[in-house]
Amino acid sequence: MKTNNAKLVEKLNQLLADYQIYYQNLRGLHWNVKGAQFFMLHEKYEELYNEAAESVDEIAERILMVGGQPLHTFTDYLKVAKLKEAGFISDGKKGVEVVLENSRYFLKSFNEILELADGDEGTSALMSDLIGATEKRIWMFESTLG
Ligand SMILES: [Fe+2]
Repeated sequence: MKTNNAKLVEKLNQLLADYQIYYQNLRGLHWNVKGAQFFMLHEKYEELYNEAAESVDEIAERILMVGGQPLHTFTDYLKVAKLKEAGFISDGKKGVEVVLENSRYFLKSFNEILELADGDEGTSALMSDLIGATEKRIWMFESTLG
């Protein structure tokens, strides 16, 4: 479904850029985590960055389907992204907080895109899937904080 909704394409590209930052945040957390929860978190971060890589691809291909051009350079991603790059984090709890912060930010983005996608069922379905997965992640990570 081609769209002449330039704002929708722009927002999807921003989501794509944010997801690339999120992916790299997860890589850093996976590499640098230390402490008692190492095995659990190291593995969980790997699961999450693999999931994020799939979402990156789905978002980019959705942009193509609606007639837009997905950004692919890190130069563009850094210009467009609003999600903050996480610095070096080895503390388990701080890492979990980054995942929660990033996930809550994404929930807002998905809902903004859902509003813009008015009548675009494919984009709406993608956002609904992402909302479901993100809400589940928030619940799980909040639970690890007790
Ligand atoms: Fe690894």
